[in-house]
Amino acid sequence: MQRRIEALRAEINSHDYQYYVLDDPQIPDAEYDRLFRELQELETAHPELLSPDSPTRRVGARPAAGFAEVHHGTPMLSLANAFDYQELVDFDRRVRELLGIEAVAYVAEPKLDGLAINLLYEAGRLRRGATRGDGEVGEDVSHNVRTIRSIPLTLRGSGWPRRLEVRGEVLLSHAGFAALNAAQRERGAKTFANPRNAAAGSLRQLDPGMTAERPLEIFCYGVGLVDGGPIGERQSDILRRLREWGLRVNSLTRGVIGATGCWKYYQEILAQRDSLPYDIDGVVYKVDELALQQRLGNVARAPRWALAHKFPAQEETTRVVGIDVQVGRTGKLTPVARLEPVFVGGVTVTNATLHNEQEVRRKDVHVGDRVVVRRAGDVIPEVVSVASKGKPRAPEFRMPDRCPVCDSHVVRIEGQADHRCTGGLFCPAQRREALWHFASRRALNIDGLGERVIAQLDEQGLVADPADLFSLTTEQFAALDRMGEKSASNLVQSLQRRRQTTLGRFLFALGIREVGEATAETLASEFGSLDALMAADVERLQAVPDVGPVVAEALRAFFAEPHNRAVIQRLREAGVHWPAPPPAAAHKPLAGKTVVLTGTLAGLTRDQARARLKALGAKVSSSVSKKTDWVVVGSEPGSKAQKAQQLGVETLDEAGLLELLGED
Ligand code: IVH
Repeated sequence: MQRRIEALRAEINSHDYQYYVLDDPQIPDAEYDRLFRELQELETAHPELLSPDSPTRRVGARPAAGFAEVHHGTPMLSLANAFDYQELVDFDRRVRELLGIEAVAYVAEPKLDGLAINLLYEAGRLRRGATRGDGEVGEDVSHNVRTIRSIPLTLRGSGWPRRLEVRGEVLLSHAGFAALNAAQRERGAKTFANPRNAAAGSLRQLDPGMTAERPLEIFCYGVGLVDGGPIGERQSDILRRLREWGLRVNSLTRGVIGATGCWKYYQEILAQRDSLPYDIDGVVYKVDELALQQRLGNVARAPRWALAHKFPAQEETTRVVGIDVQVGRTGKLTPVARLEPVFVGGVTVTNATLHNEQEVRRKDVHVGDRVVVRRAGDVIPEVVSVASKGKPRAPEFRMPDRCPVCDSHVVRIEGQADHRCTGGLFCPAQRREALWHFASRRALNIDGLGERVIAQLDEQGLVADPADLFSLTTEQFAALDRMGEKSASNLVQSLQRRRQTTLGRFLFALGIREVGEATAETLASEFGSLDALMAADVERLQAVPDVGPVVAEALRAFFAEPHNRAVIQRLREAGVHWPAPPPAAAHKPLAGKTVVLTGTLAGLTRDQARARLKALGAKVSSSVSKKTDWVVVGSEPGSKAQKAQQLGVETLDEAGLLELLGED
């Protein structure tokens, strides 16, 4: 029995090592769970064979009297910092001068943004884990350290010294942090501002059961007391030994030579910073040879042989001087904190997003508070948390009920986080988007009214809303950049022609939130007239197939907004109209026709083409026969194109298809 238990322990330890240290699992989770359960059952049946080093013993009892004091075997030092290239060069010169050598070999490592930990192994067994504390005396957090699966309870291999202090950094990955915060939110507990705080909070839990649920990780970067050593002559030897003993060492660690090598490493790691799965706040250079380290010694609490080269901070604190509301191009309202300028993430930041009203509430941000601002990579700066409250405290932030840009009503749809301006047709913030959508192919299909033209019309104040498009002259268009006489006149003609449209297209063109092309068509055929639709209440709207509460509310809010009604009125006055829908049969002009599609179309997918042909009554077949009426040939067509030729079936290109669909 004892043999089986020991074999199981060894096997589980080895899988833990593969999974947590090497990040290279060898068996499926289910199989691992089976081994684990078997061991648990055997240990329950044979309590006399229990061992504190068993992998089943990671979660133990909470310490009775809180955290006990621990005197570290050797002090846990801190590091001197450098913030720029010059400080790195100065460091390297000092080292060379003190040692009297030409070029220094360093080990370069990422500077992990977590908490320092001191692990004491005796005869290869984990005896204690302690926080750094003041460097001399820390707190005993063994009960929590034991729950970290990348920390071996017993060392692998052989040749370990009698007593060994392993130094490393405990941290939470971004994924672990997100999962922890999600769980915290779920149970209504406080969320953490960043992975570092979350790791610190987790390590100082009294209940190890709690800590076990938090996916803490470790990277080991050195040793303290070595009793029965030495275990190497260089820092690189030490890291290699730690790896051999099953301890997790960061794989970005590398040997470099001189300040040039250090600088290259710094830039290489900085470039990777945003894609790493955990936070780092710089890199660390350590003189590789331990004998040289000895000769250099320490100043104050920091070794002369090591340097932390910090990256630009991604978080700083500053004061909120105001909270504005910005309106996005789709009408979303975003609260934005105006800040006292602060240098963070390598640039000066004066605004940071607060995302939405809920987030402002959750973080409890008020004007006058000092806040933590984060700017990571190219992500827009955001307010992370309140560092200290303003005194006296300003009133709580509230979203306005009118759009700060156009004064239209603001709504927030039940169950959605965002507030939105309902003046989609009217709001200057949404103008370009609205015009672009209005003119797009599935909407009014106005040729030549692309993004660049719209931008110019907007800049020059020529259009306030889509209705203004119809009174623009050829001369006005021709005066725009890169617009010839001919295209200007084509554009005006297109506008004139497209004033006649269908109710479905018109509804889609209004750009009502939640109302796509299909919904617009359904609404058109359900209500038959715009006036009937505009007069419908939410209940009537919800009676329409596929219209749920969210779509109904979006429609109601849109048509209730007087600004939108005014633009619709002006569109009608400008001559936009739609003939009454033809009788049902005429809806299906392609009834009885068979079409085959082959090759890739530029403007629409094969599915879209198929759906629209079917909507007009055509049968869409997958093979060509004599009965086929048309074969639509896109780019890189298949054999169907040849077949059509052989059988003398008419072929159409994409333009021909569009003509068939009535979209010339
Ligand atoms: S070496 C004498 N290496 O930075 C050496 N520290 O500012 C002392 N840290 O308390 C530490 N990554 O928590 C070292 N690769 C690394 C590190 C690292 C992060 C932390 C550690 C230490 C602090 C010193």
